Amino acid sequence: MASTNYEPRIAIVYASVTGNTKAVAEILQKICLSKELEVELWPVTDFQPAELLRYDAVLVGTYTWGSGEIPKEMHGLFEAFESPNRTGLVTAVFGTGDSFFAEFCGAVDRFRDMLFVQTELAATLKIELTPQEADIIRCEKLIASVTKRLPAFPRYMGGYNQ
Ligand SMILES: Cc1cc2nc3c(=O)[nH]c(=O)nc-3n(C[C@H](O)[C@H](O)[C@H](O)COP(=O)(O)O)c2cc1C
Repeated sequence: MASTNYEPRIAIVYASVTGNTKAVAEILQKICLSKELEVELWPVTDFQPAELLRYDAVLVGTYTWGSGEIPKEMHGLFEAFESPNRTGLVTAVFGTGDSFFAEFCGAVDRFRDMLFVQTELAATLKIELTPQEADIIRCEKLIASVTKRLPAFPRYMGGYNQ
């Protein structure tokens, strides 16, 4: 008989200086918890890249710095995804940025391009500065895209809105 005890493990790992990306990470965490998903929220500075192997899905949150650049504190995590990894790791990348800049959420684009090659990238989400009410539905869609890619369990089947 198939095991019914297995719970997919999700990590949300983020970098945030002024709190915008942290706010999105916390919305995503709440959505996961409302779906009774096993989720951990990690500021990237507290996260050991080797721990990537412990999870079924990793949601990466980043602000953008310089001219469309990945913040320094995210470099180690970026490199950890690039090194040979367990196959089948489901990922998503989200971030906040300011469309005043030429490369809006450029760090999200850079993670997206790498995660698409190295992992099972399920979703990308860019948010203008502080998340608004309308962004909550976009966050729900991100989680639905991620859970659809996780090993099938009856309560995840059908994904979003089920
Ligand atoms: C020096 C500096 C450079 C920035 N460069 C960009 C950029 O190239 N693209 C972008 O979309 N946002 C850029 N931003 C805006 C931040 O990414 C944005 O404020 C973000 O929401 C900050 O996230 P946090 O509140 O999680 O720290 C820049 C901000 C600063 C202060």
